[in-house]
Amino acid sequence: MLTFALIGYGQRGKFYLDTLLKFKDVSVVAVCDNNREKLELAKNNLKLSEDKCFSGDDEFFAKGKLADALIIASMDECHYAQAVKALKLGYHLILEKPIAQSKLQCIEIAELARKYDKKVYVCHVLRYAPIYASIKEMIDSGKVGKVMSIQQTEHVGWWHQAHSFVRGNWRRSETNPMIVAKCCHDLDLFVWLTGKNCVSVSSFGSLAYFKRENAPKESGEHCFDCKLKEECIYNCLKFYTKYPAFAFASGQYLGDPNDKEAIEKAFSKPENPYTRCVFKCDNDVVDNQIVNCLFEDGSTAQLNMTAFCEGGIRTIRVCGTEGMIEASMLDNIIKYWRFGKIGQEPQTFKVEIGETFGGHGGGDEKMVEDIVRALSGKGDSLGLTSIDKSIMSHLMGFAAEESRINGGKLEKI
Ligand SMILES: NC(=O)c1ccc[n+]([C@@H]2O[C@H](COP(=O)([O-])OP(=O)(O)OC[C@H]3O[C@@H](n4cnc5c(N)ncnc54)[C@H](O)[C@@H]3O)[C@@H](O)[C@H]2O)c1
Repeated sequence: MLTFALIGYGQRGKFYLDTLLKFKDVSVVAVCDNNREKLELAKNNLKLSEDKCFSGDDEFFAKGKLADALIIASMDECHYAQAVKALKLGYHLILEKPIAQSKLQCIEIAELARKYDKKVYVCHVLRYAPIYASIKEMIDSGKVGKVMSIQQTEHVGWWHQAHSFVRGNWRRSETNPMIVAKCCHDLDLFVWLTGKNCVSVSSFGSLAYFKRENAPKESGEHCFDCKLKEECIYNCLKFYTKYPAFAFASGQYLGDPNDKEAIEKAFSKPENPYTRCVFKCDNDVVDNQIVNCLFEDGSTAQLNMTAFCEGGIRTIRVCGTEGMIEASMLDNIIKYWRFGKIGQEPQTFKVEIGETFGGHGGGDEKMVEDIVRALSGKGDSLGLTSIDKSIMSHLMGFAAEESRINGGKLEKI
């Protein structure tokens, strides 16, 4: 029996445990969450006894090693300390991205994993998303020749920006710069798809829109007391009643997702931070940023992260010496051109992602399946996201933020 413990029964943590429970010979033996309501939910959903539920990580770690592997799906600022303690106790780790809050913390975790001979899987789920797996296969089989440049856009989206990066948990740069928190995935794809090391980056970006000076004249401090609430696309009452999964994700409402009245009530309280006007929050992370990356062989990649789009999708163009690939997670369609004839139509095919409960184009479930295979020693595992492979993206992200802060200054990795 392969056993797991979890810290952080939030949106990600709940997904991981729900998915793990579908496997035979896997069990979840302990949960830790410092939110009592969520801990109670975990206890009931997983039928855990009281002594296997912990409301603080000190209490959890004091019990010693309780499982083969620990999933760390708490907030970014907890990852480093929890990962260090867990590795010293002998846990394998499934560590949510971002790995930690600085380059040095990331390196220390990687070194400890080596020292204690433990696996640390970083949740770079896009490596497992069928569309990116197909692109990787095409690149590896030589379809575009040598990769010379990549352009990737992370369409964060107006609503996701508002929920997570204006009102929510990732709105402050001391938690993590947004380019690390949101886009370590994208930077990781550059490294994984090309198999090359990045040598330097430069970056521009700013918080250009979600700030007080852009608030409409008649707007209130909170949606519930705002004169413009009927017409405003950021009205939290409309958003959270329509998309109750985000009401749960906010941590402000854990009740029945169909009870609109109860959701409205929860999002009519001034103490609920998700009721704040998107122009009047204490956010300081960017709402648009670009990163330019130079690789060891002179090839380049460019990342565009923007709030100002429909959202929830990524697009990519891979340009090689012999061909080009374009793909979008919106429709999971890949277009491929082999050079040699001007004006030719691309070969076009749709990547099937099957039924998916997680996100990231099916990558979430596939990563969990692969980690279970790896840790249980049953069947071949791809092992795509070990910390040694995943760390470069974080070094690029922290360097990009340094560059952005310094007006686009070149940063060596
Ligand atoms: N891999 C991905 O694509 C992906 C996507 C979204 C979020 N994330 C990352 O996953 C992590 C969790 O994100 P989420 O959206 O599930 O957030 P969440 O707020 O829904 O869940 C975090 C949970 O951790 C708990 N928690 C926080 N600090 C704790 C502590 N010290 N001890 C115990 N419990 C603690 C909170 O109460 C909450 O229940 C974050 O680091 C986030 O950046 C990764």
